Amino acid sequence: MNYKIALVPGDGIGPDVVAEAVKVLDAVGVKYGHQFEYETVLAGGAAIDAMGECLPQNTIDVCKKSDAVLLGAVGGWKWDTLPGDQRPERALLGLRKELGLFANLRPALLFEELAEACPLKPEIIEGGLDIVVVRELTGGIYFGEKGYKDTELGRAAYDVEQYAEEEVRRIAVVAFDMAMKRNKKLTSVDKANVLESSRLWRSVVTETAKDYPEVELSHMYIDNAAMQMVRNPKQFDVIVTSNIFGDILSDEASMITGSIGMLPSASLAKGNFGMYEPVHGSAPDIAGQNKANPMATILSAAMMLRYTFGLSKEADDIEAAVKAVLTQGGRTPDIMSPGKVSLGTKEAGDRIVAAIS
Ligand code: NAD
Ligand code: IPM
Ligand code: MN
Repeated sequence: MNYKIALVPGDGIGPDVVAEAVKVLDAVGVKYGHQFEYETVLAGGAAIDAMGECLPQNTIDVCKKSDAVLLGAVGGWKWDTLPGDQRPERALLGLRKELGLFANLRPALLFEELAEACPLKPEIIEGGLDIVVVRELTGGIYFGEKGYKDTELGRAAYDVEQYAEEEVRRIAVVAFDMAMKRNKKLTSVDKANVLESSRLWRSVVTETAKDYPEVELSHMYIDNAAMQMVRNPKQFDVIVTSNIFGDILSDEASMITGSIGMLPSASLAKGNFGMYEPVHGSAPDIAGQNKANPMATILSAAMMLRYTFGLSKEADDIEAAVKAVLTQGGRTPDIMSPGKVSLGTKEAGDRIVAAIS
C-alpha cells in the first residue's frame, strides 16, 4: 500500500527527531512492502524565517491532502518576543484547529528497562505504569476569546476558558472507548469546585457514562490529580481532561516514563485522520547536538501506523524495537544511568532500525 505522510519537522530538535522516525518508517516499509511517501512542509519558526508567517497556507493544504501528519516541535528563543498571534506555537494550534484534531492521546508507559530513569520510588512503580491521558485539543482556554483592556489596576490581559457540551461529549466518548479497550477505569479531571466550565464538563462526562455501564468513572480535581500522579500513579488507567489541564498533567505523567523524550502522542480528528507528535517541545538547549531522544517521535510514528493506517503488526514491531534497544542498554542522555550504553539521536535511530530489519 501507498501512504502519504506530511512531515512538519519544525524547530529546534524537531528536525533531529523527525529524521529518525522517517528512518524507522522506511525500515518498516521495506520489511512489509509498504510505500511511505513524504512531503516536508514548514511551520513554526522555520516558516517565519523562510516565508514570514508561522503557518503558510501551503502547509495546511499539504497536511489536509495527506493521509497523516508527523510533526516534530515548534518554537524557540529566537521567536519568543514576537506578538502572540505571530509566535511559532500559533502554527501548532492553527494546524490542530484546521485539521479538526480534537482528541489528543498521550500514553505514559514505563518500559521496565527504564525504572531507574523514573524519579519515583521503586515501590510506587512496581508492576509497571501504564496511563493514557486523553486531552481535549481544540477548545478551552487555548481557543477562547483573548485580549487586553485597561483597568484601575493597570493593563489587564484575559483568556477565556469555555467549553460547549458537544466539545466535552466527543472527547468523553473517545476516553470511554479507550477505557473499554483497557482496564475500564476512567478518571475525569477538572476544577469543578471553582470553574463553571468544569461543572458543565463534569455533568456532560457523567451523562456520557450512561452509555458505558462497564466503565468505572471517577472525578478528580486537577490539583489533587497532579499530586496523585506522583503519590500513587497506579490508580490511573485513562484520564480525560481539558486542553490546558491535559497539557500540564501529561508533562508530569511523562516523568513516569523516565523522560519527556519517551512520550508520544496522537492528535485525532473524526475518522482516521491524525497528526502525530511527541509531547515534548523543541528543546532549544540541545537542538542540533545529536542529544535528543528520538523515541517519543518514533513511538508517535508507531501510533500513526496503528490509528490512521490500521497497521497494528507494524506498530507492534516499532514498539518492540524501541524496547529491544532499551533492553540492550542503549540510552540517550536524558534516560542515561550508570553502566548503560550512551547513544546519540542518530545512533538511537540506527539501533531501532536494526532491531526492525
Ligand atoms: P521542551 O519540552 O522543549 O524542553 C523541556 C526540557 O526537556 C529541556 O531541558 C529539554 O532539553 C528536555 N527535552 C525535551 N525533549 C527532549 C528529548 N526528546 N530528548 C531529551 N531531552 C528533551 O519544553 P520548553 O523548554 O518549555 O519549550 C521549548 C520550546 O518548545 C518553547 O518554544 C515551547 O513553546 C515549545 N514547545 C513546543 C511543543 C510542540 O511543538 N509540540 C511542545 C512543548 C513546547
Ligand atoms: C504541547 C505544547 C503545545 C500546547 C504548545 C507548544 C502550543 O506544549 O503540545 O504540549 O500547549 O499544546
Ligand atoms: Mn505541552
